[in-house]
Amino acid sequence: MSTLARIKELEAEATEAISAATDTATLEELRVKYLGRKSELTGILRGIGSLPPEERGPVGKEANRVRGALEEALERSHEALAAEELQRQLEADRVDVTLPGTRPVRTGHLHLITQTRREIEDIFVGLGYRVLDGPEVEHDFYNFTALNHPPGHPARMLQDTFYVDPASLPEGVRNEEGLPPGPRDVLLRTHTSPNQVRAMEVSEPPLFVIVPGTVYRRDTMDATHLPMFSQVEGLAVSEDVTLADLAGTLQEVARALFGPERETRLKPDFFPFTEPSVQVDVSCFRCNGTGKLPDGSRDGVCKGTGWIEILGAGMVDPNVFGFVQDGRYDPERIQGFAFGMGIERIAFLKHGLPDLRIFYENDVRFLEQF
Ligand code: PHE
Repeated sequence: MSTLARIKELEAEATEAISAATDTATLEELRVKYLGRKSELTGILRGIGSLPPEERGPVGKEANRVRGALEEALERSHEALAAEELQRQLEADRVDVTLPGTRPVRTGHLHLITQTRREIEDIFVGLGYRVLDGPEVEHDFYNFTALNHPPGHPARMLQDTFYVDPASLPEGVRNEEGLPPGPRDVLLRTHTSPNQVRAMEVSEPPLFVIVPGTVYRRDTMDATHLPMFSQVEGLAVSEDVTLADLAGTLQEVARALFGPERETRLKPDFFPFTEPSVQVDVSCFRCNGTGKLPDGSRDGVCKGTGWIEILGAGMVDPNVFGFVQDGRYDPERIQGFAFGMGIERIAFLKHGLPDLRIFYENDVRFLEQF
């Protein structure tokens, strides 16, 4: 067979194989077989030089034409097959995003204390207060001294706490006396009140803030005491904030927490850092302030008094303003009120719980109910 005839035969064979191919992998095999380095056509093109001179022109021309034609056929077929393969792949991989997902067996939820804290935060944010945060490991200065409890003041004993032993700190952070740098006494805060001076140090008056957080006291645990609990501190300072504003604000808060019919009353109290100081009571939501249950028995929630103490408060003592650096809170020009409420206590009262310790036992039978 002449070379030219063989080229034509190859063309026919390859063209048929290409049109019969059903996937791109087969096309690639055909490309190698008919156009690759070891293919017959490539061999013919390479061997042109050894042909008789009169055959070289026609054979070279025909071989190149066929190579071009086959390349074109391969490319066209590849485009069509690749598109088909992509379509098939997309269909096979299709996910129905409208199918319902698999629900986790049990979803968790926020702890009752966290829920109550957020509820209190929402109420104050609604009244225009900002929510701040402060450190749990606190300096004696903010926890006591700046709140009118100078060193040696007997009121410190009422809030005894855990002190951080400077000797337990690594060498590098102690000075030549073996104490940490800065204020000498570092402790677990006994209340959120250190944030009164802290908040005033970072913001100019007027100031309306609450500061929720965990506090610590050296209390033994019983049904109404925990060595670790949560408070929300409140501070409102401007040129004309009065005790009447304190009463009105806390009345709103008590109604938001315990129901719109609640009344509040103030009773004299004492805190070294407020003057005057008050205790705020809310009318009992269980017996509606009567002290008696429908069956005539004494209401245990308010102990038969019809009133429940919910927090301590008062007008900020001018001395406390004096502890803010640079005299930026001039007690001749501004005044304000502060209060501190216990979050466990609010939750305990709202839900009629028997014992404060239940909050921290992590018994799911309790936690699941809220
Ligand atoms: N810090 C006080 C306590 O823990 C409560 C309080 C706060 C009283 C602010 C007055 C003003 O007992």
